[in-house]
Amino acid sequence: MRSHQSPFTLTLSKGVPLLIFICTFLYGLFPNPASAEEQIPTIVVLVAYHSLSGYTEKMAREVAVGAKSVSGTRVVLKRVGDVTAPELFLSDAVIVGSPVYWANMAAEVKAFFDNWQFKFGVFPEFKMRNKVGAAFTTGGQVAGGKELTMLTILAAMLGNQMIVVSGGGAFGASATTEGDSPGLDEKELGEARALGQRVAEVAKIVKHGSAQ
Ligand SMILES: Cc1cc2nc3c(=O)[nH]c(=O)nc-3n(C[C@H](O)[C@H](O)[C@H](O)COP(=O)(O)O)c2cc1C
Repeated sequence: MRSHQSPFTLTLSKGVPLLIFICTFLYGLFPNPASAEEQIPTIVVLVAYHSLSGYTEKMAREVAVGAKSVSGTRVVLKRVGDVTAPELFLSDAVIVGSPVYWANMAAEVKAFFDNWQFKFGVFPEFKMRNKVGAAFTTGGQVAGGKELTMLTILAAMLGNQMIVVSGGGAFGASATTEGDSPGLDEKELGEARALGQRVAEVAKIVKHGSAQ
């Protein structure tokens, strides 16, 4: 037996779902620009590092925390050997970290830079041109070559026509890991976060004209 429905009930049962469907469709077509901006990261920061005993990796995680503290920043945190060509070329900034090996960057980090050409083909177009670059390091001794290590990393970036910046310390972020108090102290980890934050801010200025 068919139940009798009033015109009002019919309108409610069919009209309301139809109205919801139309509104959802229109909202999808014209999303609120402000909320879209909040959701879509506006810059990508690649943090690439080498680490055997874990100190430089710990620094890398803090650098990532600092970069993420700048709104609209997405961070890709990778060991140098795992970075892919799209990750490198789609990034707006690259922060490279290495332990000090004989007052220089580790061979794995040098190979990473060499592979920008051998594997990824940066030349002749200078595909890294105008991306922001920075460095961080950990070394066993107080005066064992940390600044030189950061400078060799920055030199490789300069050769690629990147915009090199510091943060944390004068040449980047660094930590002394051996000696009287082995490991990383809070000041050194803070330096790493300051570097990540500075790089993300500068990358935002370069890309959007403002750090806000
Ligand atoms: C082969 C090798 C060479 C090193 N040379 C230096 C050096 O010249 N100066 C220095 O201060 N520390 C030197 N170190 C110590 C490391 O830089 C230090 O332990 C670093 O924090 C290790 O980083 P990781 O824990 O990320 O591997 C050397 C270590 C190794 C294994």
